[in-house]
Amino acid sequence: MRLDVFTLFPEWFAWFAGQRHVRNAVELGSELNLLHYRDSTPLTGGQVDDAPYGGGAGMVLRVDVVDAALHRAYDSSHDSPRVILLAPSGRPLDEPLAAELAQERHLALLCGRYEGVDERVREHLSDDTVSIGPYVLSGGELAAMVVADTVLRKLPGALGHADSAVEESFSEALDGAPEYPHYTRPASYRGWEVPEVLLSGDHGRVREWRLERSRERARSSA
Ligand code: ADE
Repeated sequence: MRLDVFTLFPEWFAWFAGQRHVRNAVELGSELNLLHYRDSTPLTGGQVDDAPYGGGAGMVLRVDVVDAALHRAYDSSHDSPRVILLAPSGRPLDEPLAAELAQERHLALLCGRYEGVDERVREHLSDDTVSIGPYVLSGGELAAMVVADTVLRKLPGALGHADSAVEESFSEALDGAPEYPHYTRPASYRGWEVPEVLLSGDHGRVREWRLERSRERARSSA
């Protein structure tokens, strides 16, 4: 998996890139590249944004700036990525979409800033628009990290344990339901007991109990 993130704030990703599962994914052959819109802007003085036509507050990221960044990154390569614009009005990110994105060999994530991004970026330069939720962030960077996180952790080996991402919330193994509750030592703490079945050593009963708790959670969150 190659992930290219286009942003005006590449330094935001330094912390993210240092996290264990991201480093694991990179060591196993994935790439996380940060591309700064300013490095390829065709405008003078590093300009990347402009006032909105029709008036209004704030600045809008220009379409020619985003186009130039994509051209610079991909013109000489045969490998064209699936281009995803991050915006609050996009398709809501959920587990099926994350699983679909994790199948891609190459993703480009376009972070917007300011008041927004020129609509022609969505219309002509991106394949999908994705939202991480019905609220407005000050830019697409945190949203890009959320997408990158959920995608990278699905890659084989990223979690350091082959089964870790298989039977988790919303996975196929749980029929898309939330995960069952987990407990660890101590078995009794301030009178709060771990369910007896988990201490029983009976794998069949444990499995049944877990699936039932998972279904129960699905029902109560529906
Ligand atoms: N950019 C600003 N808000 C966003 C959101 N909720 N999801 C994706 N990108 C965004």
